[in-house]
Amino acid sequence: MKRLSLIVAVAISTGYAASNSGAIPLTGDHGVWYGSISVGTPPETYTVIFDTGSSDLLLSSATCSNCGPRTRYNINSSSTASNLRKTFSLQFSNKQTASGDLFTDTVSIGGLSATGQTLGAATSYSSSLEGNPVDGIMGMAFPSLSGYPATPVMNTLKSQGAVSPGQFSFKLTGTDPELFIGGANRALYADPMTQNPVTKQGYWQVALDAIGVGSSRPVVGIQAIIDTGSATIDLPPGEAAAFYAAIPKSKDASGTAGPGLFTFPCASEPRVSFTFGGVSFPMSPSTFNLGQVSEGSDDCVGSIVSGELDVAVIGTSFLQNVYTTFDFDGSWVGFARLV
Ligand SMILES: *[C@@H]1O[C@H](CO)[C@@H](O)[C@H](O)[C@H]1NC(C)=O
Repeated sequence: MKRLSLIVAVAISTGYAASNSGAIPLTGDHGVWYGSISVGTPPETYTVIFDTGSSDLLLSSATCSNCGPRTRYNINSSSTASNLRKTFSLQFSNKQTASGDLFTDTVSIGGLSATGQTLGAATSYSSSLEGNPVDGIMGMAFPSLSGYPATPVMNTLKSQGAVSPGQFSFKLTGTDPELFIGGANRALYADPMTQNPVTKQGYWQVALDAIGVGSSRPVVGIQAIIDTGSATIDLPPGEAAAFYAAIPKSKDASGTAGPGLFTFPCASEPRVSFTFGGVSFPMSPSTFNLGQVSEGSDDCVGSIVSGELDVAVIGTSFLQNVYTTFDFDGSWVGFARLV
């Protein structure tokens, strides 16, 4: 059902002048984007999903029996590690779970280091997390969303003065996708950047003015969580139905293609756009189209789906179309056109 296009790109960091910012090259795979951090002394490298929809740093423990072929965290291999002697249990929005033990250690990202950073080492995962191509998840939402609870990596970097400003930005498409921490990479976006105030801290939640199809605006005035850890765009059920009602010959395919999914005629290439802060950002046809519903079908599955929340969750299907900045200092999310 899903178009199995593997996007792999590697960027080379090109010597940014400021010492309290840094760029991390990313790899994109089926709508999930990940890159490297290092933990411990001597540093061990881990591949993590940079997730703005959670707030905890999660790795796998050396003692985990169902963690797959991951790079494991071993407290005995790091001279800066400390055992908090506390356990944790996390549940993700997709119902996956992880539980284990909490530690503190030095965490470095893009050349910037946080000391005494709390991290969880999972000793058990729900089976659906097995076989994941990454070693862990680095949550980048607000501290109040932490399940441990603990101060998230970005907030530790900020309070220790290692990163300035308290900002990070994503380019999630094309050549050289990257996460930039300590600001926005001016080379990657065109002015202006809209600044959308966070309306409710926890997730990065902002107002979404409208979703357009051609010249119609079937969805207006809803709240949206900006989530780099999600691939799809999940709308409240009523809004999802209203959105597809604006696309001729679209169909609710929850019974055939999968829960929450809709199809549309592949040939129609609807012009979908998202308006934030009064500025309309078009979605490219390839990011709206998840591929044919079945081999040889004229119907394609849309990346806008019906979700379970009363707010929208805006995942990478949309975020691939823009440059996105998350700002802790002023509490806003910025969108700008990619150059
Ligand atoms: C670390 O060392 C302690 C003491 O030798 C041992 O009990 C523990 O199992 C070790 N932990 C790991 C993850 O190897």
